[in-house]
Amino acid sequence: MMEVIVNDVDETVRLGESWGRRAARGTVFALEGDLGAGKTQLARGIARGLGYRGRVQSPSFGLINVYEGGRLTVFHIDLYRLETAAAVCGAGLEEYLNQPDGVTVVEWASRWFGPGDREIHRVVLETTGENERRIRYDHVGD
Ligand SMILES: Nc1ncnc2c1ncn2[C@@H]1O[C@H](COP(=O)(O)OP(=O)(O)OP(=O)(O)O)[C@@H](O)[C@H]1O
Ligand SMILES: [Mg+2]
Repeated sequence: MMEVIVNDVDETVRLGESWGRRAARGTVFALEGDLGAGKTQLARGIARGLGYRGRVQSPSFGLINVYEGGRLTVFHIDLYRLETAAAVCGAGLEEYLNQPDGVTVVEWASRWFGPGDREIHRVVLETTGENERRIRYDHVGD
């Protein structure tokens, strides 16, 4: 995995933007990290990098927000409220988690799979200071 230390929220968003600009159709970003680690900020960056200009926030009802209008549709999923992999499997999200017709960003991806069991871009965020985060990730794009 690659590793980067970011020093503020803007750097996190910019990292996401760089991934979004390069992301191919069918890409799944699986974000893991504690409350407040910055998963939603990273999702915002990815959506912006794909050209989406609207509001990005975790779904407050249901499990998914769909952002259209950019280069590819973005499916923003938050699995926080689902406790187990079984619950995730029963939630009807397969079309977004398996070769989506667009780009999927999943918060609390550890609810869904064990490490390394799919072709996805795994991202792990750790809070290392008030505004500092350690972000480890699979290589994205070329
Ligand atoms: N370097 C940073 N990167 C991202 N967020 C940061 C950073 N420094 C401070 N923050 C702050 O930390 C918070 C991160 O919130 P965010 O909603 O992105 O976390 P999250 O991982 O999605 O949490 P949750 O599990 O509740 O969904 C924001 O308030 C943001 O301003
Ligand atoms: Mg979040």
